[in-house]
Amino acid sequence: MSSEQKFPPPFKTLISKEELNKRIAELGAEITKDYQEIGEDLVLIGVLKGSVIFLSDLCRKIELPCSMDFIGIASYGDDTKSSGVVQITSDLAHSIEGKHVLIVEDIIDTGLTAQYLFKNLATRRPASVKLCSLLHKPDRSEIDISIDYLGFAVPNKFVVGFGLDIAQKYRNVDFIGYVEE
Ligand code: IMP
Ligand code: MG
Repeated sequence: MSSEQKFPPPFKTLISKEELNKRIAELGAEITKDYQEIGEDLVLIGVLKGSVIFLSDLCRKIELPCSMDFIGIASYGDDTKSSGVVQITSDLAHSIEGKHVLIVEDIIDTGLTAQYLFKNLATRRPASVKLCSLLHKPDRSEIDISIDYLGFAVPNKFVVGFGLDIAQKYRNVDFIGYVEE
C-alpha cells in the first residue's frame, strides 16, 4: 500500500518526507548530544504556527527530558517579505529565566523574525539561546543570523507544506513542495 498522501495539490516536491524524516532524526541526535549535560533545563520554543509539524517530529528524536513552549508572532510587511516589525500575538506560558532555550523555526528567510526573537528572549535572562530551523533561504538573508541546527538550505522559491502555509492552507502536506511560477 502506498503511503503517499492522496490530496495534495500539484506542488513540485523539493524535499520528500523520507528526506525530512532522515534529517530530523540527525538533528535530534545532534541536539541530544550537545545538551546531554543540561538535559532538564532545555526548553524547545516553537514559533507558531509554521514550526509545529517540525517541532512535533523533532522533539521525539531528542532523548532528553526537555520541556516545550510556544510563541506566536505576527510580522508586518507584504505577503512575501517581512518588515522586521514583529508583534507577539501569543506569549510563552512559562518563564525561561536560567533555562537553555532552543528556538524552533520553520524557515529563516530574511532573518528579521529570528533577530527579533533573539533580542526579545535575551531580555528574559535565559542561560543560553540557540536556533534550530528546518529551512533557510540563504539568497534572501538580510541579517547574518547564525543557525545552530539547520535542516536544509533551499532556493529562493516560495515553499509550502510540513507546517508552511500558503494563506494558512496546506500546512498538513507531508513533504516540502513549491509552486512553479
Ligand atoms: P523572515 O523574518 O523573513 O526570516 O521570515 C520568516 C517567516 O516568514 C517564516 O517563519 C515563515 O512563516 C515565513 N516564510 C518565509 N518564507 C516562506 C516560504 O517560502 N513559505 C512559507 N512561509 C515563509
Ligand atoms: Mg514562521
